[in-house]
Amino acid sequence: MESVGVRRARPAASRGLPGPPALALLLLLLCGPVLGELRAPPEKIAVIGAGIGGTSASYYLRQKFGKEVRIHVFEKGKIGGRLATLNIKGQGYESGGSIIHPLNLHMKRFVKELDLPTVQCIDGLMGIHNGEHLVFEESGWFIINMIKLVWHYGFQFLRMHMWMEDILDKFMRIYRYQSHDYSFSSVEGLMHALGGDEFAGMLNRTILQSMQKAGFSEKFLSEIIAPVMRFNYGQNTGINGFVGAVSLAGIDSGLWAVEGGNKRVCEELLQFSKASLISGSVMYIEEKARTTPTGGLKKAYEVTYKTDSGINTDLYDIVMVATPLNSKMSNITFLNFDPPIPEFHQYQHYHLVTTLVHGRLNPSFFGLSATDRVELSDVFTTDSPNSFFYSLSMATPTRREADVQSKTATDSAVWKIFSSESLTKEQLNLLFASHDSVDEKEWLAYPEYKPPLKCPPIILHDRIYYLSGIEWAASAMEMSAIAAHNAALLAYHRWYGNTEMIDQEGLYEKLKTEL
Ligand SMILES: Cc1cc2nc3c(=O)[nH]c(=O)nc-3n(C[C@H](O)[C@H](O)[C@H](O)COP(=O)(O)OP(=O)(O)OC[C@H]3O[C@@H](n4cnc5c(N)ncnc54)[C@H](O)[C@@H]3O)c2cc1C
Ligand SMILES: *[C@@H]1O[C@H](CO)[C@@H](O)[C@H](O)[C@H]1NC(C)=O
Ligand SMILES: *[C@@H]1O[C@H](CO)[C@@H](O)[C@H](O)[C@H]1NC(C)=O
Repeated sequence: MESVGVRRARPAASRGLPGPPALALLLLLLCGPVLGELRAPPEKIAVIGAGIGGTSASYYLRQKFGKEVRIHVFEKGKIGGRLATLNIKGQGYESGGSIIHPLNLHMKRFVKELDLPTVQCIDGLMGIHNGEHLVFEESGWFIINMIKLVWHYGFQFLRMHMWMEDILDKFMRIYRYQSHDYSFSSVEGLMHALGGDEFAGMLNRTILQSMQKAGFSEKFLSEIIAPVMRFNYGQNTGINGFVGAVSLAGIDSGLWAVEGGNKRVCEELLQFSKASLISGSVMYIEEKARTTPTGGLKKAYEVTYKTDSGINTDLYDIVMVATPLNSKMSNITFLNFDPPIPEFHQYQHYHLVTTLVHGRLNPSFFGLSATDRVELSDVFTTDSPNSFFYSLSMATPTRREADVQSKTATDSAVWKIFSSESLTKEQLNLLFASHDSVDEKEWLAYPEYKPPLKCPPIILHDRIYYLSGIEWAASAMEMSAIAAHNAALLAYHRWYGNTEMIDQEGLYEKLKTEL
């Protein structure tokens, strides 16, 4: 009875619903002793990483824990992390995460709340190259496309859309759960709550297995599905079914980006959440116990970090790790934990190069004569030993003024190429008739998806949360934001003991009847 009263009191207060004073008084009388013991709010929270994961975590932490708590966000590089731009001839171009799906509701909410302008991505013509020639080429004529598609692949495209829609429908349930404040203590648990065993099982099956099982043809899988996986994740159809579906959603229409660069969301989220940015690299995390003035024992985490001015430490009640934990990407050591916090050696991100080239495409590479125009704006490649790049796309500047739509492909334009290694001079000369600038950015871009696999834990220790494990389900801006919202809710409910808000079974049915 007492604990029920306490639990109910909290979420209501947090949503800013002022309860009737009489009720509050009654609760106080009934539960006085319990309320007295009720945990004080946390004083300080550390967030490690100022990418979209860390900055959206600070947004949701502020929302849940209120305006008193101090939030420190550590960043060893630039705000935005894998959201970054390269400057070419005075225009910015996304070199990392670039497109956002129209149904990515957290990202939509952020730009709305932060009042950031957006740009629509252009839907150009797509071609698929097998290392020797184009195996498929979209036409500007809708009806010709339809005939081509049906001729080549039967009704597989239509079926693919239906297959995707079903997955997307289930995926969208997360927003309802989160808006009702529900949280999950594992990535698998979250996936299970969205669509049961079958849905969560996608994590342990390859997209090839999933789509073969659903009856798609080998030709369609190798000529269409594999190139899309290479374009979005630099990997083949061996990646898990869920990230495969996310990847297919990445070629939907209605895609958008943030004007001035997607990293602006991160910068603005930091400001909005009134978090303090600490430009430094976190080295160690250790649990420390200290006695409070009243003689109690208070446990906190000591974070040791390196800045330009030396090595510092600070104590935090809660820590959120919003960067992949592997020595190449973050190199954080958890000192003296018993039992030790696991190492994540088997969870590695692979190397990907983004190259931005200002130049004119070489028609002969696409099987055209030297005077022909290449009308394509996206070229994907099949998983063939002759394909030396994953994809080639006309890049849109992050600012709207520079209108690329009016340009034709043989005019000079900025092209974005994804490849596993830096492109050689010879390779650039194969692709381009002429070019006058080449800029590249290397990334440890995405997890190497090799299902079956257990996702890393979300709870690393009593009050240490790990957000980036969700990337092993799928890596995308929206996924980091979902993980951040989930971790903020989880940290809140665990702090105040609201166990009924964590890992609830049958949520979908429950919330359906609540409506
Ligand atoms: C080339 C490329 C294209 C992509 N395209 C898309 C796309 O079109 N759409 C999409 O949705 N997603 C895309 N993604 C994926 C997307 O960019 C990522 O999933 C997302 O940005 C990850 O955000 P994050 O905050 O979780 O991690 P990160 O952005 O990696 O942020 C982690 C941050 O932590 C910092 N850090 C690490 N260790 C420490 C430490 N010890 N101390 C302090 N700071 C530390 C890092 O410097 C970094 O800034 C793409 C990614 C790449 C690389
Ligand atoms: C996937 O398989 C691993 C073992 O390889 C298991 O630990 C994990 O729970 C499985 N995930 C799901 C969603 O079934
Ligand atoms: C990781 O950090 C430790 C100590 O902080 C350092 O000795 C080691 O060289 C670092 N490793 C990498 C790969 O940066």
